[in-house]
Parts: sequence; C-alpha cells; structure tokens
Amino acid sequence: MVSKKAAKGFYRCFVFIFFMMGLFWGMASICQAADKGGAASTVGATYVGVETCATCHEKEYKEYKLSTHSRIEVKGDEANAQGCEMCHGPGSVHVDNGGGLNKPGQETILNPRKHPEVCFTCHMDKKMEFRLPYHHPVLEGRMSCADCHNLHGSDSRPWTATSMEDANEVCFKCHKDQRGPFPWEHQALRDGCTTCHKVHGAITDKMLVARDANLCLRCHIQTTFPKIGNSNHNVRLTQGTCWSTGCHTAVHGSYFDRHLRE
Ligand code: HEC
Ligand code: HEC
Ligand code: HEC
Ligand code: HEC
Ligand code: HEC
Ligand code: HEC
Ligand code: HEC
Repeated sequence: MVSKKAAKGFYRCFVFIFFMMGLFWGMASICQAADKGGAASTVGATYVGVETCATCHEKEYKEYKLSTHSRIEVKGDEANAQGCEMCHGPGSVHVDNGGGLNKPGQETILNPRKHPEVCFTCHMDKKMEFRLPYHHPVLEGRMSCADCHNLHGSDSRPWTATSMEDANEVCFKCHKDQRGPFPWEHQALRDGCTTCHKVHGAITDKMLVARDANLCLRCHIQTTFPKIGNSNHNVRLTQGTCWSTGCHTAVHGSYFDRHLRE
C-alpha cells in the first residue's frame, strides 16, 4: 500500500510536470509568434500608418488607393499591419532614416520582391502551392510574386474581367516560345494559359491541370466520339497523351501543320 503522504507527493509531482509542460508549450507558441512576426518585419520597427508613407511615395500611394488590398481590414493580432505596411512591414526605421533604398544586409523596409513570406501571412494556401513538386521558383528567390502580380495597381491580378488573353502577356515576358504568332494557332490559348496550366505550383509535370487526355477532351469531345475532328481516335487514345507519341506535339500552336504537329 502506498501511504497517503507518498500519494500526495506523487500527485504534486504530476501537477508540477503538467505545469512545466504547459509553460514550455506556451513559450514555444510565443517564440513561434515572434518568429512569424520576425520573418515579416524589420528589426525594432513599429507601424507608422499609410499617411506617413504617402508624404514621400505619392505615386505608390495613388495607385494603392485603387488596389484590392487597400480595401482589406486586418483584424486580430496583426491589426496594426494596415495599408502599405501589411506588405512592407512596420516602417518606422525606414522613415527615421529619411527613407532610401535598402543596402545589402541592412534593410530598413521590406520589399516583397525579395520577401514573399509577407504575402504568406495572409495567403497561406499559396505557400503550399509553391511547395508542390512542380512550381515557379519563387521560394528559391529566382522570381517574385511581382513578376506576375501588380500589387500597387487597380488590379493585382494579371488578367482583366473582359479577357484572359491579357493574362498571357505576363507569361510571354519569360516564355517567348509560346507567343507565336503561329500560322496554325491553337484557339485554346485564347482562353488563357491557365486553362491547361496551374501557375503557382502543381503535382503534375509542367504544372498541367491534368496529365492525361482529359486535358484536351474537356474541349474536344464531340457527339461522334471517339471520332475527334474527322478521324477515329479509339486506338490512338490508348497510345499515350494527345501531345506525346508524335501526335499533337505543338500544343501551343504550330509552324508546320494544322493538326498541331512539330
Ligand atoms: C499588397 C502588397 C503591397 C502593398 C499593400 C503595398 N506594396 Fe509596395 N510593393 C509591393 C511589392 C510586391 C513590391 C515589389 C514590386 C516590384 O518589384 O515590381 C513593392 C514595391 C514598392 C516600392 C519600391 C518601388 C519599386 O518600384 O521597386 C515602394 C517605394 C513601395 N512599394 C511603396 C509602397 C507604398 C508607399 C505603399 C502604400 C501606399 C505600398 N507600397 C503598398 C507590395 C505592396
Ligand atoms: C522621408 C521620406 C520617406 C518616407 C516617409 C517613406 N519613404 Fe520609402 N523610400 C524613400 C526614398 C527616398 C526611397 C528610395 C527610392 C528610390 O531611390 O527610388 C524609398 C524606398 C522605399 C522602398 C524600396 C526599398 C528597396 O530598397 O527595395 C520601399 C519598399 C519603401 N520605400 C516603402 C515605404 C513605406 C511602406 C513607407 C511608410 C511606412 C515609406 N516608404 C516611407 C523615402 C521615404
Ligand atoms: C494582410 C493580409 C494580406 C497580405 C499581407 C497580402 N494579401 Fe493579397 N489579399 C488579401 C485579401 C483579404 C484579398 C482579397 C480576398 C481574396 O481574393 O483572397 C487579397 C487578394 C489578393 C489577390 C487577388 C486580387 C484580386 O483582385 O482579386 C492577389 C493576386 C494577392 N492578394 C496577392 C498578394 C501578394 C503577392 C502579396 C504580397 C506582396 C499579398 N497579396 C499580401 C490579403 C492580403
Ligand atoms: C507565374 C506567374 C505568377 C506568380 C509568380 C505568382 N502568381 Fe499568383 N496568380 C497568377 C495567375 C495567372 C493567377 C490567376 C489564375 C489562378 O487563379 O490560378 C494568380 C492568382 C493569385 C491569387 C488569387 C486567386 C486565388 O487563388 O485566390 C492570389 C491570392 C495569388 N495569385 C497570390 C500569389 C502570391 C502570394 C505569389 C507569390 C508568393 C504569387 N501569386 C505568384 C500568376 C502568378
Ligand atoms: C519572370 C519570368 C516568368 C514569368 C513571368 C512566368 N514564368 Fe513560367 N517559368 C519561369 C521559370 C524560371 C520557370 C522554371 C523553369 C526551370 O525550372 O527551368 C518556369 C516554368 C514554367 C512552366 C513549367 C515548364 C517546365 O519546363 O517545367 C510552365 C508551364 C510555366 N512556367 C508557365 C507559365 C505561365 C502560364 C505564366 C503566366 C501566368 C508564366 N509561366 C510566367 C519563369 C516565368
Ligand atoms: C491546350 C492546353 C495548353 C494551353 C492553353 C497552354 N499550354 Fe503550355 N503546355 C501544354 C502541354 C500539354 C505541355 C507539355 C508539353 C510536353 O510535355 O511536351 C505544355 C508545356 C508548356 C511549357 C514547358 C515547355 C514546353 O513547351 O514543353 C511551358 C513553358 C508552357 N507550356 C507555357 C505555356 C504558356 C505561357 C501558355 C499560355 C500562353 C500555355 N502554356 C498554354 C498545354 C497547354
Ligand atoms: C479550352 C478548350 C480547348 C482545350 C483545353 C484544348 N483545345 Fe484544342 N482546340 C480548341 C479550339 C476552340 C480549336 C479550334 C476549333 C477546332 O478545330 O475544333 C482547337 C483546335 C485543335 C486542333 C486543330 C484541329 C484541326 O485539325 O483543325 C488540335 C490538333 C487540337 N486542338 C489539339 C488539342 C490538344 C492536343 C489539346 C490538349 C493538350 C487541346 N487541343 C486542348 C480548344 C481547346
């Protein structure tokens, strides 16, 4: 039999252990929070508000007023991170220094071109996308969200409500081969690159939205299927994807052949 006194000691010991565990857990989460803030701010800086930035950055301020992000109200712990500072981090150090460009290793203000993590504080799902096996090398620092998104402008999306073709322009900056003009264009491109490609990242090679014939059959299925166009595809569809095995290899448009071959 365990004595009453020993049992009590045992119990105290347990309470103590739990207390310590709680303390460690609490500390761990405080450190994590500090980490998160640390990643997306300049050391020692505090928030100064958008009007202060406006005194020196009139152009950016005017543009920003029309942007999607100017309508965002930040709530909770990060509520101070409003306006410019939601993306540039707290600005007091920059302002106290009279502004100016960052020097290497001495940043007074964050520039999201180099710090995509500021975007991830709100767009967490995008971080996951960039971590998928096939992705644009943003996390690797080889390109930036700003290569495709105009964060200050009235539309941070690279396309407009009226046409997806505008969106393609942003892609052609780097992917010139897909621009053409092709004697035999593939009309699918008029619906935008995003009809076939994910843009941030994907689990499929070349960031394709589907890795098999379904990519093409979404548009090319007709009532006479397996006839596509004038030819029966019954056997062909078992031989590989539509763009491999020497068939429609020039999916973006062809210089030689109306059936999109190279
Ligand atoms: C939604 C995020 C976001 C907000 C809000 C925002 N910016 Fe920016 N800012 C960026 C990004 C991204 C870049 C990098 C642009 C690039 O490199 O093309 C940038 C770049 C800049 C630059 C560098 C200029 C340049 O062309 O390289 C200045 C100055 C600037 N921002 C000021 C401001 C001011 C002032 C405000 C508020 C009126 C503001 N920003 C609000 C995302 C933002
Ligand atoms: C006292 C004037 C002044 C104020 C206030 C000011 N800036 Fe600047 N800032 C500058 C100058 C000057 C530059 C250098 C611009 C250049 O040479 O093109 C600059 C550069 C920047 C850059 C680019 C840094 C880099 O190297 O990539 C960003 C981003 C920026 N400012 C954001 C802000 C934000 C956000 C605020 C408000 C928190 C702010 N600025 C307030 C004067 C100011
Ligand atoms: C403080 C939170 C916050 C930060 C920081 C932030 N965003 Fe956003 N962003 C939002 C919200 C909220 C929306 C509107 C709702 C939505 O479409 O998800 C939005 C919308 C967008 C859109 C869609 C725009 C549209 O017109 O529909 C893009 C693109 C975008 N953000 C990119 C960025 C990039 C790139 C950065 C970093 C430079 C960034 N955001 C930083 C909160 C934020
Ligand atoms: C290669 C070009 C490209 C890069 C780089 C890029 N985006 Fe995008 N983004 C797009 C396109 C195109 C769309 C619209 C198509 C779509 O919805 O998939 C989009 C849509 C979005 C949207 C709004 C639609 C949604 O899914 O909610 C947000 C938010 C966004 N991007 C955030 C980001 C952030 C944050 C980064 C950087 C970490 C980034 N993007 C980098 C091209 C890009
Ligand atoms: C700033 C330059 C830039 C812009 C703008 C850009 N890309 Fe890219 N793209 C890249 C780079 C860099 C890679 C990675 C290539 C590599 O790893 O060798 C890439 C890879 C790709 C790939 C995969 C190619 C492969 O060989 O695996 C596709 C598909 C793609 N981009 C489509 C797009 C689309 C669609 C857009 C427009 C929404 C776009 N890109 C905008 C630079 C860019
Ligand atoms: C009809 C579907 C479709 C559309 C629309 C489309 N692509 Fe593709 N893209 C593909 C396929 C399929 C591949 C893979 C080709 C391969 O593996 O041989 C590919 C491959 C790529 C590659 C990798 C290099 C290459 O040619 O193999 C890049 C870069 C690319 N696409 C960019 C773009 C851009 C930019 C746009 C918009 C202008 C676009 N794509 C529109 C289907 C499409
Ligand atoms: C967004 C819809 C869409 C998607 C997805 C699509 N196409 Fe197309 N495609 C069209 C349209 C529209 C035309 C022109 C009208 C026609 O000939 O049916 C066309 C024409 C073609 C042609 C030329 C037909 C001819 O002989 O004149 C070929 C070949 C073709 N597509 C192959 C593909 C392949 C391969 C894929 C998948 C990688 C694909 N398409 C995905 C819409 C699409």
